[in-house]
Amino acid sequence: MNIYRFLLSGFISLLLVGVGIATVGASNDTTVNKEQLFLPDPPSAKADTVCVQPVEEMRRWHGLYLKHQRHDTMNKGIRNLNYSLSTCINCHVTPNAEDKYPDIHEGNEHFCRSCHEYASVAIDCFQCHAGHPDHEDHVNEESRADEE
Ligand code: HEC
Ligand code: HEC
Ligand code: HEC
Repeated sequence: MNIYRFLLSGFISLLLVGVGIATVGASNDTTVNKEQLFLPDPPSAKADTVCVQPVEEMRRWHGLYLKHQRHDTMNKGIRNLNYSLSTCINCHVTPNAEDKYPDIHEGNEHFCRSCHEYASVAIDCFQCHAGHPDHEDHVNEESRADEE
């Protein structure tokens, strides 16, 4: 019997320590001002539009979709405009308060950078692709179509 009592008391003290830690954790949480936390805040897309897939799905899978589309276009010649990079940019990148397009290479104002800066995701796409709509160096479906 004693061994059970010993185990039980051990379990209860662990429980109490656990509650103590949880309480400390909880009280710490309440001191955090959410407004002071830096969280990604992607600028809105063009008004009255919907994304090419449900937003939850896009948050999770857009990188994969883009890379698949890139692969299909470059390697198999398939041109399915659903995940065209220029289409994303045309809808997601809008002029800021100073009527300028946010910089794709600096800061976190640009739609794609807003999260990537936060999550430390580095992509090289915009060495070649334009980061804002109607760019003269557009490497995209439309500019390629113009050349043909
Ligand atoms: C070295 C230059 C270069 C880099 C870097 C690059 N691309 Fe491209 N990409 C191209 C060219 C050139 C095409 C072909 C354009 C065409 O045929 O329309 C293309 C085509 C595509 C296409 C298919 C056309 C379209 O828009 O639907 C997608 C999607 C794409 N790239 C996505 C990406 C993504 C995502 C990245 C970064 C992970 C990336 N690219 C990096 C040069 C580049
Ligand atoms: C015709 C407009 C349109 C196109 C094209 C479009 N989107 Fe969207 N996207 C939206 C809208 C609207 C939302 C919802 C949030 C908002 O209002 O900005 C959204 C949401 C998202 C989100 C989640 C953002 C967040 O606030 O969490 C991601 C990521 C995203 N889109 C990526 C893409 C990518 C990548 C492409 C190109 C393959 C693309 N979108 C094409 C309109 C568009
Ligand atoms: C809502 C936040 C958010 C927005 C907005 C966003 N991304 Fe991402 N992106 C992420 C996160 C987080 C990852 C890494 C995890 C993953 O691959 O899903 C990522 C990954 C990627 C990858 C894959 C990188 C790799 O090496 O595998 C590509 C390509 C990409 N994003 C392109 C874009 C483009 C282009 C835009 C703007 C049109 C954009 N993203 C907007 C959050 C975002």
